[in-house]
Amino acid sequence: MGQTSVGDLRSRAAALQKDLDNKLFGQHLAKKIILNAVFGFINNPKPKKPLTLSLHGWTGTGKNFVSKIIAENIYEGGLNSDYVHLFVATLHFPHASNITLYKDQLQLWIRGNVSACARSIFIFDEMDKMHAGLIDAIKPFLDYYDLVDGVSYQKAIFIFLSNAGAERITDVALDFWRSGKQREDIKLKDIEHALSVSVFNNKNSGFWHSSLIDRNLIDYFVPFLPLEYKHLKMCIRVEMQSRGYETNEDIVSRVAEEMTFFPKEERVFSDKGCKTVFTKLDYYYDD
Ligand SMILES: *[C@@H]1O[C@H](CO)[C@@H](O)[C@H](O)[C@H]1NC(C)=O
Ligand SMILES: *[C@@H]1O[C@H](CO)[C@@H](O)[C@H](O)[C@H]1NC(C)=O
Repeated sequence: MGQTSVGDLRSRAAALQKDLDNKLFGQHLAKKIILNAVFGFINNPKPKKPLTLSLHGWTGTGKNFVSKIIAENIYEGGLNSDYVHLFVATLHFPHASNITLYKDQLQLWIRGNVSACARSIFIFDEMDKMHAGLIDAIKPFLDYYDLVDGVSYQKAIFIFLSNAGAERITDVALDFWRSGKQREDIKLKDIEHALSVSVFNNKNSGFWHSSLIDRNLIDYFVPFLPLEYKHLKMCIRVEMQSRGYETNEDIVSRVAEEMTFFPKEERVFSDKGCKTVFTKLDYYYDD
């Protein structure tokens, strides 16, 4: 990124805020944490460790989307930038038998890329499906070291995505809904406790086998709440606009109604968040 002026940073912060406001729905906590975390970090000329964000929630709630927005606001080209690296556990590291190979490869990649660009961004999707050994391989890069074998990782950004804790996040959101409280009044502390308990105790989420948490290597836990009907409608409207169609409220409602909601009785939250509304939308415009 080279030298950045204060004015530059301000306008970037404003751009990130605008993107989050216009495109991410129903996630007041994530929005606030991300904005503060990312700009606090980029503004810091000498961070003591890389920025590590752990994004939690069900599919379709906006985790991938937020990673993409962060990447786009730091690097032109976003996910396609040479400085942004996306790893998907089941795609890039599928075979447990080849873990040693993956480990060496991943360490070489991280090292090589950070040597070339100190502010590289690494995104790890499906952390809950990632082999514990691989997470151990990343660990040295996340710590408070000035140098690891001559390379400084302190300006890099690591973003981890997982479903771990999603049930607990949903429980909190549902409790609020049932007691008639505003979703926007959910505070991070309401969720943090639930999250740490479930995440630590969940043997299936590979992430937590490792000592990332024990060693406080994660800077921010970012919860993504399950989405309601009205949020789906917002996603659909934005998608329509981005495809160049005029907003058609009739279609917006029809697409939103095709989604399934839970719990069975109350039908409050969308099963798949906003994930499949886009393909459903295709049907209405497929001529
Ligand atoms: C593991 O890596 C070796 C060497 O690259 C390769 O020959 C083998 O097919 C891989 N195994 C699996 C299960 O992918
Ligand atoms: C950077 O990471 C990519 C994977 O995202 C890898 O293919 C490439 O070889 C790495 N570059 C260096 C210089 O290590």
